[in-house]
Amino acid sequence: MIAKYIRAGISVLFCLAMVPGPINAADSGSSCVECHEVLSGRTADPVRLWRNGAHRAAGVSCHDCHGGNPLDMEQSMDHLRGSPEKLSRVEITEICGGCHSSAQKMKLHRTRIDQVDMYLSGRHGAALDAGKMAPTCVSCHGAHGTLSVKDPESRAYPVNVPDLCAGCHGSETLEGYRTGIHGKALLEDLNLRAPSCADCHGAHGTIVASPVETPVICGQCHQNEVRRFNEGPHRNSLEQIGQPGCTGCHDAHRLGPVPLEEVPERIIATCPGCHPDTDRAVIVGQVIAAELEGTLLTVSLSRLWAEEISMRGLDTLQIDLLIREAESWISQAIPAIHAVDLELLKELTGMAKDKVKSAREHSRNLQMELGLRRVGLLFISLLSIIIIVLLALKLRQLEREKTHGRTGGNVS
Ligand code: HEC
Ligand code: HEC
Ligand code: HEC
Ligand code: HEC
Ligand code: HEC
Ligand code: HEC
Ligand code: HEC
Ligand code: HEC
Ligand code: HEC
Repeated sequence: MIAKYIRAGISVLFCLAMVPGPINAADSGSSCVECHEVLSGRTADPVRLWRNGAHRAAGVSCHDCHGGNPLDMEQSMDHLRGSPEKLSRVEITEICGGCHSSAQKMKLHRTRIDQVDMYLSGRHGAALDAGKMAPTCVSCHGAHGTLSVKDPESRAYPVNVPDLCAGCHGSETLEGYRTGIHGKALLEDLNLRAPSCADCHGAHGTIVASPVETPVICGQCHQNEVRRFNEGPHRNSLEQIGQPGCTGCHDAHRLGPVPLEEVPERIIATCPGCHPDTDRAVIVGQVIAAELEGTLLTVSLSRLWAEEISMRGLDTLQIDLLIREAESWISQAIPAIHAVDLELLKELTGMAKDKVKSAREHSRNLQMELGLRRVGLLFISLLSIIIIVLLALKLRQLEREKTHGRTGGNVS
């Protein structure tokens, strides 16, 4: 029985050994690959790069982009589409679009098929039309070492995108972005939820968002702020006058982070950017800032006294919980400044203050308990001292009686 299994196992292994390496439809029998592989320099590099790329893995080979006949070693290059140097930038787009715009050719893959259309309708497509040095598909993806955009080595991988774009768009934008919160989050913390250039400008349908478009662009990730913004007076003015969008108050690239305690002064500094000093809006901004500042102060003070009583050895779990709830109301109050609505803000800061009040009450109860416990402790200590003294007295009396008894006995 066991011998049968072993024999079967050996024959399976034998069959596996007969299979030559990983086969790939793209390599097998391609004269282009066979000949170019043994050439040198710039004629051989494409094979090396292509071997590790996404196209070979998907069965896309040299002739799919260059033309020619891969089955015929002698005449294979007769039908080449043309020398790559002579390929115009428009032709490159067409080559890639031959598959990437075709539902038929991409039907086995889950990749989108709108890149070429998007590209042509965007700023880069327009620049291409105008004969400028616009990037083509291969500027961002490479012609041969094309990698999946999910591969961290890909030029189009989010973390690598800022350098890719800055290659043509100058270092000033890149520096601004890098020092802002988005760049820090993506490039330093590798937080892939933070936007790269492509999230705000589009990878293919490259645009510069107008103020009116910014709530949609930023709202991909900041729904809360956009919802509040839409409740306020600026939504109306954005639609009618085209101002202020999100970038009316925030720099597009060099933005944040603003520490919590600096938010009130930031609000005060922002409004006169558009409203005259005497405008009602500026006053509204100041009142909102004051309300927020007061609440921030209340909550940060509560942290201080909570720490103090925890150092006295009391269990502050419940108090910490309440203060944390207060803080979470504050993190709802900050986005709410976008509604520029004092009543709404007061509702939220009011909730935060209520939580601090409950924490305060709780701490008072704890302290009262502590007081009672101290009185109790004092009472018990006193009681035990009295008992000890009484016992000592009793002992001495007994000893005295004993000695008296003994002396008495001797006398008799
Ligand atoms: C027998 C060898 C051989 C075969 C087969 C071959 N090539 Fe080439 N290929 C070359 C050589 C050599 C050069 C360099 C020619 C030059 O620099 O003038 C070249 C150049 C090229 C170039 C660059 C053209 C240019 O003008 O710079 C492309 C693209 C190319 N080959 C694609 C292919 C494709 C696609 C196939 C298969 C359909 C193929 N080759 C088959 C030898 C070959
Ligand atoms: C996905 C399409 C695609 C595939 C697949 C592809 N190429 Fe290319 N190849 C291009 C494009 C586009 C260019 C022009 C690059 C440019 O303008 O930067 C190019 C350029 C070249 C050049 C000229 C390089 C130079 O530096 O001048 C050679 C040689 C070449 N390819 C050979 C090959 C060979 C051999 C294969 C197969 C192993 C292959 N290519 C596969 C799209 C492709
Ligand atoms: C300016 C740089 C740039 C150019 C030009 C560019 N791409 Fe992309 N491409 C990217 C980035 C960045 C991503 C990843 C982010 C995304 O998909 O939004 C990407 C993603 C892709 C993907 C992956 C699937 C997808 O859509 O997510 C394909 C396929 C693709 N591009 C093909 C093309 C083709 C074809 C062209 C030429 C019309 C092209 N790209 C031009 C930067 C570029
Ligand atoms: C013969 C058809 C064909 C041609 C021509 C072609 N591609 Fe592809 N490409 C594919 C297929 C198939 C895949 C694999 C898609 C997948 O696995 O989702 C692919 C994958 C890609 C990917 C990776 C997508 C991802 O998953 O992130 C990029 C980027 C890409 N191609 C860009 C290009 C560029 C740039 C050109 C032109 C130089 C080009 N392709 C030409 C068929 C083609
Ligand atoms: C090969 C160089 C090159 C690369 C790489 C490149 N661009 Fe561009 N970009 C251009 C050119 C050229 C223009 C057109 C400028 C003009 O019309 O004056 C342009 C225009 C733009 C515009 C419009 C600017 C304006 O003021 O109208 C934006 C936004 C943009 N690119 C973003 C990006 C992003 C994002 C990336 C990276 C994903 C990128 N670009 C990669 C060359 C490049
Ligand atoms: C959070 C969204 C966002 C990110 C991320 C972003 N941008 Fe922008 N960018 C904008 C907006 C919005 C504008 C429009 C200008 C404005 O409203 O101040 C703009 C303007 C531009 C412009 C044209 C105007 C100018 O300043 O010359 C270029 C070029 C540009 N960005 C390139 C980039 C590059 C390159 C990156 C990555 C390093 C990048 N952007 C990252 C939102 C963004
Ligand atoms: C792709 C998602 C994404 C897009 C699009 C985006 N952001 Fe952000 N943003 C983030 C993330 C993630 C953080 C938090 C980074 C961190 O805390 O490490 C952030 C942080 C911020 C902060 C600072 C928050 C703080 O705690 O101080 C501001 C302000 C901001 N974004 C404004 C904008 C504006 C304005 C736009 C549009 C021009 C925008 N964002 C577009 C994801 C995005
Ligand atoms: C009228 C001015 C103004 C406008 C318009 C505006 N913001 Fe703000 N925003 C502020 C101020 C002031 C702060 C607090 C200081 C800071 O974090 O920059 C802030 C904070 C933020 C924060 C950080 C919130 C937090 O919890 O720390 C984000 C994210 C944000 N704004 C996104 C947006 C988005 C998205 C838009 C567009 C819908 C927008 N802002 C429009 C003034 C504005
Ligand atoms: C980028 C320009 C810009 C900035 C910055 C700005 N606003 Fe406005 N705001 C407008 C415009 C435009 C209107 C509509 C026209 C008007 O009524 O003045 C408006 C209208 C208002 C209104 C309703 C009209 C009124 O006067 O009662 C209020 C309230 C307001 N803004 C408050 C603020 C506050 C608070 C800030 C600072 C946090 C601020 N705005 C910052 C552009 C701006």
